Amino acid sequence: MKKYVFAIAMIGFSFYGFSQNAAKGKGIYDKVCITCHQSTGLGIPGAFPPLAKSDFLNKDVNRAIKGVVKGLNGPITVNGKKFNGAMPAQPLSDQQLADALTYVYSSWGNSKKVITPAMVKAQR
Ligand code: HEC
Repeated sequence: MKKYVFAIAMIGFSFYGFSQNAAKGKGIYDKVCITCHQSTGLGIPGAFPPLAKSDFLNKDVNRAIKGVVKGLNGPITVNGKKFNGAMPAQPLSDQQLADALTYVYSSWGNSKKVITPAMVKAQR
């Protein structure tokens, strides 16, 4: 019996592993990223940069992924405004970061890119 439960769990897990899901990503965003970037994705002027219609985000997918994976600090310019803060590396799995970023890209007028766990892994 245990074997079957394990097999079914593994099948479920592998399906989960192959689906990028903006809805799941929203759940992660609302727990983790929202503290700084806010539910509107607008951030807080002077402290946390916007993700909504962010030129920084939309210009370079791998740079955006890397920032979340490794952390990001030092001066950056987002939509013409300068920020010089620090985002700690986000301790989430490849799948969780892929979902969260897919949600971000699908929201607030962003470029609708789909981020896969493999793309996240490549930046680790
Ligand atoms: C503790 C606060 C904090 C949390 C939590 C956080 N960030 Fe950030 N984020 C920042 C700060 C501060 C910067 C700017 C860093 C700098 O000035 O170099 C930033 C920058 C960014 C950028 C690049 C700049 C832009 O606006 O396009 C992206 C993309 C981003 N964060 C996405 C995320 C995602 C996705 C999550 C959740 C998985 C997240 N962040 C969680 C504080 C945070």
